Amino acid sequence: MPPVTLNRRAILALGGAFILFLLVSGAITNHVRPDIVQKHLPDRWKTPQPEPEPPKFEDPPVQEWQEEIFPLAKAGKIPKINPKNIVNDNNLKTPLFIGFTRNWYLLEQAVVSYIAAGWPASQLIVIDNSGVMDSNLRGLLSPTNPWYLNHTRLSQLGVSVKRTPTLLSFAQLQNFYINYAIEQDWGYYFWSHMDVVVVSHESESPENYKSLYRKAVDVLGTTLEKRDHWALKLFAYDWLTLVNVEAMRDVGAWDTQIPYYMTDCDMYSRLTMRNWTQDNVDAGHVYDVSSHLTDLAVLFPEEGHESELNTTRFTDLLKQLQLMMEQKQKNSHGRNTWQARQDGGKGEPFWRNPKGFERGINFWIDKGRELFRIKWNYGECDLIDKGYKYGDQWTKD
Ligand SMILES: *[C@@H]1O[C@H](CO)[C@@H](O)[C@H](O)[C@H]1NC(C)=O
Ligand SMILES: *[C@@H]1O[C@H](CO)[C@@H](O)[C@H](O)[C@H]1NC(C)=O
Ligand SMILES: *[C@@H]1O[C@H](CO)[C@@H](O)[C@H](O)[C@H]1NC(C)=O
Repeated sequence: MPPVTLNRRAILALGGAFILFLLVSGAITNHVRPDIVQKHLPDRWKTPQPEPEPPKFEDPPVQEWQEEIFPLAKAGKIPKINPKNIVNDNNLKTPLFIGFTRNWYLLEQAVVSYIAAGWPASQLIVIDNSGVMDSNLRGLLSPTNPWYLNHTRLSQLGVSVKRTPTLLSFAQLQNFYINYAIEQDWGYYFWSHMDVVVVSHESESPENYKSLYRKAVDVLGTTLEKRDHWALKLFAYDWLTLVNVEAMRDVGAWDTQIPYYMTDCDMYSRLTMRNWTQDNVDAGHVYDVSSHLTDLAVLFPEEGHESELNTTRFTDLLKQLQLMMEQKQKNSHGRNTWQARQDGGKGEPFWRNPKGFERGINFWIDKGRELFRIKWNYGECDLIDKGYKYGDQWTKD
């Protein structure tokens, strides 16, 4: 792309439009619900509502219970990845945090998809924010327990696990990443939602094929070289994000008093107010899902055909993931019902009532929205568009 110079108004407009885009997409956190966002947007920002069509999907049936979705791993036979996805000539660190609170199956799916797309397992860090202390490490939870996580499986895959000291909110978890990066002396890091599946652009021209990981490394290299005033590089909304630690420091990190919803508006607006950029970049397909594949082996090429691209297996996988993503969007109970689906484990250490847990989160989501309004003396997400400046927060009694 040719370099583009923008005047200040255009930058603000773009920034605003972009934040809006994020919001409408409902992609900012697992706890942002597009229905709520829509309701709170100024009229002119609302997506025009088309005539209601008959629903294309019923609510997806609650997925049939499966204790194991990666039998090959259980048998100690993790499939080989496409050698074209491996990046050998890279000296840059690419630490990628994936936060986990509930639903091991979605987490495993996300992790395995990153590995299959070339991300070195040694650079993946699962942040166990289940709040069950050492229970998962010691294997004390059963797979039907929402907070179950298989440490042995992650080690087998070569992925490391770092535990939060106690259950953190979304904003606290984000600050945990920042602090962890500071401790490690990393100037940047990647983070990803755990309810995603990533896939490389295999259907593009094979001569120019680059795996998702290769593209992410390229984005990182270019970003570091350019030394712009950058805060975030957003791959598919913020389902995968590259973060500049310096920008996080400059704006004082996330406001943990706004735990979930609106904390993103607060953060991304403060970054824009301080002229830190947040651009969209691309590295491959990122699907936002609330269900899992029945066998994760489908994320890998067939044995003996490892370097083939765009096979039938691959095109079928894309169709399946597209369907899973649409089902998530159309689920009338909100996008996040998967979080309430695994509901066993009663009586195990640190068990909480999953429905109560969900209600508790919703309670704090509402309180966070209230606090945002008090903080800015304004309750909507379009702070930039309305001319709010850095320092306008907490200026009204
Ligand atoms: C956890 O993963 C390990 C390693 O793949 C496997 O042997 C074990 O059966 C898994 N545990 C459960 C409860 O599924
Ligand atoms: C990949 O496969 C799909 C479906 O078979 C086809 O439409 C597409 O053209 C293929 N892409 C390339 C680059 O061959
Ligand atoms: C951001 O950029 C604008 C326009 O160039 C400038 O007026 C303002 O002082 C900058 N703000 C900060 C915090 O750097």
